[in-house]
Amino acid sequence: MSTTFRPDLLHGKVALVTGGGSGICKGIAAAFVAHGASVGIVGRKVERLEAAAAELSARGPGRAWALPGDVRDYATVEGIVDGLLERAGELHIVVNGAAGNFLCPAAQLSSNGFRTVLDIDALGTFNVSRAAFERALGQAGGSIINISATLHYGATMLQVHAAAAKAAVDATTRGMALEWGPAGVRVNGIAPGPIDDTEGVARLLPADQRERALRSIPLRRFGLIEEIADVALFLASDAASLITGTVIVADGGACLPQGMNLDSMG
Ligand code: HXC
Ligand code: NAP
Repeated sequence: MSTTFRPDLLHGKVALVTGGGSGICKGIAAAFVAHGASVGIVGRKVERLEAAAAELSARGPGRAWALPGDVRDYATVEGIVDGLLERAGELHIVVNGAAGNFLCPAAQLSSNGFRTVLDIDALGTFNVSRAAFERALGQAGGSIINISATLHYGATMLQVHAAAAKAAVDATTRGMALEWGPAGVRVNGIAPGPIDDTEGVARLLPADQRERALRSIPLRRFGLIEEIADVALFLASDAASLITGTVIVADGGACLPQGMNLDSMG
């Protein structure tokens, strides 16, 4: 494994990563395991989750456990946190990455469709953070990392539900950072831009719009899962010991252009 960080960066640390069975958050869980952490990964699809946990454990040097469940249900989330504490004895890092999304015009979106995305992203982030704080982080301190987006910085077509959900996630990041700082808990966010080889890009960016999207990104490329994992490693580590209440945008500058199309500037 080649890494920018010390290979034992997270040796002895225990993390809970929701959405860790796939995509970006599987990449984050893999990076944590590769740097020595023990990681519980959460998702609803049991088979996929168990396969991911087995794959990450086989790579080591840390290990991963599959902890299936739906982050929308608080009692389930309490059981997940307890399950991880039974296995690992401690919990230091939480990554809230579970999310749901699809393209839909607001005028056609059902009330339940809007609520479903809010529930997975925002309520899920609250549930997991709240249960982890009560059972572990509130006593021993720790780091919470909420995976957000840049959809709500301006406004994004067909994304009223997801933009509202991620705005709520960012507000939760700041509020919990304020309230939980005295307990030694840092709460930060990562706002990725489009990341290659992910469900998010597959769902939101039709293949025929890829080239156009690339031309509007200052760095002229989509991100890599590993690049988001590196930001998570930094935020989870002592190198970020003074950082709380911040959302790091990692998008190659994708959210910078406003009004003027970079296409026309060569
Ligand atoms: C309109 C839709 C819809 C669609 C579902 N709904 N899909 N409405 N267009 N494509 C509506 C349903 O009709 C229903 O409302 C309500 O949403 C709930 O649908 P369910 O299927 O019952 O929900 P559930 O089984 O809980 O599944 C949640 C889900 C699903 C979000 C709909 O797609 C999912 O599980 N997604 C997880 C994976 C995922 O989305 N990954 C991408 C994350 S990427 P009614 O009224 O009919 O009952 C991401 C990127 C952000 O977040 C930024 C990128 C740049
Ligand atoms: P992904 O692979 O679909 O990841 C979403 C994960 O959340 C899945 O593993 C899914 O597993 C889990 N999940 C969904 N609903 C859940 C629930 N109710 N309870 C528990 N787990 C649930 O998508 P991704 O593209 O990698 O996105 C990961 C994160 O990055 C998300 O927060 C997303 O909003 C954010 N993001 C992505 C991009 C991008 O370009 N991909 C850009 C900006 C932000 P199950 O289906 O098994 O439950």
